[in-house]
Amino acid sequence: MERLLNQQFDLLRPSATVAMADRILALKAAGRPIIGLQVGDPDFATPASVRETALRALEAGLTHYGPSQGTLDLRQAIAAKLLRDEGVGYDPATEILVTHGGIHAYHTALQAILNPGDEVLVPDPSWATHANMAVMLRGTVARVPAPAETGFLPALDAWAQAVTPRTRALVLNYPSNPTGAYPDPAYLEALQGLAEARGLWIVSDEVYGSLYYGERPGSAAAPPARRPARSW
Ligand SMILES: Cc1ncc(COP(=O)(O)O)c(C=O)c1O
Repeated sequence: MERLLNQQFDLLRPSATVAMADRILALKAAGRPIIGLQVGDPDFATPASVRETALRALEAGLTHYGPSQGTLDLRQAIAAKLLRDEGVGYDPATEILVTHGGIHAYHTALQAILNPGDEVLVPDPSWATHANMAVMLRGTVARVPAPAETGFLPALDAWAQAVTPRTRALVLNYPSNPTGAYPDPAYLEALQGLAEARGLWIVSDEVYGSLYYGERPGSAAAPPARRPARSW
């Protein structure tokens, strides 16, 4: 008898960058001199301080299960970083969770929010995983256009018009993969206002927050400096 798989796979858009990365790795292995620009993998070795810290941890026997939330000293360091950089205070004991990277964090966040059929708003274009993960969790995705004409950011009204009674979350990723665009603090404040007014979660992937030209990107976690002037 035929063995069935998760039918959500049929609804995914395959990742062109992953396909290209695999092809480039294969061509490099075959000796072709190729510079791959398709994934966010630096062309330099992991800095010595990071390697040495990892080696010291291995030598010290930190190779067993740790606390499920992540070790407390790491959570404290994350809380201190959020306070220093974003001016936002989170309790390392109860409000910070360490994951195995961005994809795991995003999966965990959506899994905590979505019931089957719930809707997630994702800018278009966006990194494929942001929509695909919602689909794998049996959510539905509405893509909010982020065209060049509006600086690769969705117009604020486009977000508001996309919200339906099934919408549960806005997914942000700034600076954006793939466009590099990021909004100013007033835009983020307006989105915070929309999310509050319509009972939505903001899921913000800020993995590229340190890669920018010009003004430092703000975080969607930063508290609004003032109440948004508009009503939704
Ligand atoms: C926007 C974005 N978030 C997350 C990730 C991946 O995160 P991680 O490798 O830490 O799971 C990537 C990698 O391409 C990415 O572009």
